[in-house]
Amino acid sequence: MSQEIAFTKEELAEIERLKAQYPESKAAIMPVLWMTQKKFGWLSEDVMRMVGDVMNLPFAHVKGVATFYTMYFKKPMGKFHVQVCTNVSCMLRGGEEIYHELCDKYGIGHNERTADGKISLEEVECMGACGGAPMIAINEDYHEHVSMADVERLIASMAD
Ligand code: FES
Repeated sequence: MSQEIAFTKEELAEIERLKAQYPESKAAIMPVLWMTQKKFGWLSEDVMRMVGDVMNLPFAHVKGVATFYTMYFKKPMGKFHVQVCTNVSCMLRGGEEIYHELCDKYGIGHNERTADGKISLEEVECMGACGGAPMIAINEDYHEHVSMADVERLIASMAD
């Protein structure tokens, strides 16, 4: 069953609260898109249109923000979205190997998800946790100094 594209009364109140945090209400677009993504899992064009309506912003503006930032998903991702940093510090400590092993293990590539919808994978640039290289993030949780075995254990503990 498809999810109805609408905000609840409580969500609309939260959007108003967010808008009031900024000198110009349109600056709240990022947290509003974030809470919207949490609700729907990703940002379809219909969802972006609804955000534009509640923010009094043109669809093109909403889409521009959503497409500029990779943290906003423009297609459905996995229940567990695994981001693997392959930037310099992480690459030197095995981040690239972890990324490629995960691609092979799940048969998916960058910004793809498994057929069962459980896992999606993203190769990312530095996530600001270089001291913990190599690092990954699963949804919003960072995991540092990980080996491939750690990554497999983390994913298995969540996805089973
Ligand atoms: S290089 Fe991976 S977190 Fe900075």
